[in-house]
Amino acid sequence: MIVGFVGSGSMAAAMARGLRGAVDGLLFTDSGSGRAATLAAEVEGEALASNREVAERADVVVLAVKPAALAVAAAELGDAKVVVSLLGATSLDVVRESFPRSEVVRLMPNVGVEVRGGVLCVAGDPDARLRELLGTLGHVVELPDSQFDAATAVMGCAPAYLALAVEAIADAGAAAGLDEELARELVVETTGGTAELLRVRHPADVRKAVASPGGSTEAGLEALDREGARDAFEAAVRASLERMRG
Ligand SMILES: NC(=O)c1ccc[n+]([C@@H]2O[C@H](COP(=O)([O-])OP(=O)(O)OC[C@H]3O[C@@H](n4cnc5c(N)ncnc54)[C@H](OP(=O)(O)O)[C@@H]3O)[C@@H](O)[C@H]2O)c1
Repeated sequence: MIVGFVGSGSMAAAMARGLRGAVDGLLFTDSGSGRAATLAAEVEGEALASNREVAERADVVVLAVKPAALAVAAAELGDAKVVVSLLGATSLDVVRESFPRSEVVRLMPNVGVEVRGGVLCVAGDPDARLRELLGTLGHVVELPDSQFDAATAVMGCAPAYLALAVEAIADAGAAAGLDEELARELVVETTGGTAELLRVRHPADVRKAVASPGGSTEAGLEALDREGARDAFEAAVRASLERMRG
C-alpha cells in the first residue's frame, strides 16, 4: 500500500515514522517550507511537487493540513481513492463535501503512533486493508463523529498532560537528590508499567494497592488533593474542548 501525506507537519511526521517499513511507499507534500523533503529523507519516502500527483499515486491520502487549508488542499488534490482526514474539529460530512467521489474516513491519532503505541479514533467506514494499516500504529477505536472533540480533548491532548506529570515528578526526584537522568528513567519506566497495569485494573484499585493506610503514598495523594490536582486535570480537558469549539 502506498500512503501519501498532504502536509508534512508534526502529525504527518509521527504517522510516517510509525508506518516506515510497514507500507510500500510514503509520499509527502508541503506548501513550500521544504518539510516534505526533510521528512521523506528521514523515512525513506518521496517528496512530490504537487498534491495532484499524491492523489494519482497513493492508495490512501492522509490529509494532514490545518483545517483552514482544507478547501485549497481539496482543489489541488482532485479525486483521491481514499482520503483519511486528520483535521481537528472538522466533521466527516464537511470533509466528504470536499471529496464527493472519494471514500472518506476521519481519524484522530495521538503522538504515540510514532512508536506504534498510539490511540487512533476513527469514524467513517474504513475497509479491512485500511483498518489493518491503522492497527500497525496502535490501538484503534471506532467512534461516532459527534464524539471526536471530546475524545480529542482526552486522547489527543493527554500525552502532553502525562508528559507534564512525568516531568514534574522527575524534577521533584532530582530536587530530592537523584541524578536528573536517573530520576526521569525511573518515572518513565514506572509510567510504562502502570499503563500495563491499568489495562487490567481500575485506576482506583491501583491507587488503593499502592497507598496503604498511613503510608507515604497516602500522604502524597493527600497532598495532590490539597493542591487541586484532580481539578487541574478537569480544567485542562475543559479548556482544550473550549479552544477546539472556538
Ligand atoms: N499535532 C497533533 O498532535 C495532531 C493530532 C491529531 C490531529 N492533528 C491534526 O493534523 C493536522 C495537521 O496538524 P500538524 O500539527 O501536523 O500541523 P503543522 O505542523 O502545522 O503541519 C501542517 C502541514 O500542512 C502543510 N500544508 C498546508 N497547506 C498545504 C497544501 N495546500 N498542500 C500541501 N501541504 C500543505 C504545511 O506545509 P508547510 O510545511 O510548507 O508549512 C505543513 O507541512 C491538523 O488538522 C490537526 O488538527 C494534529
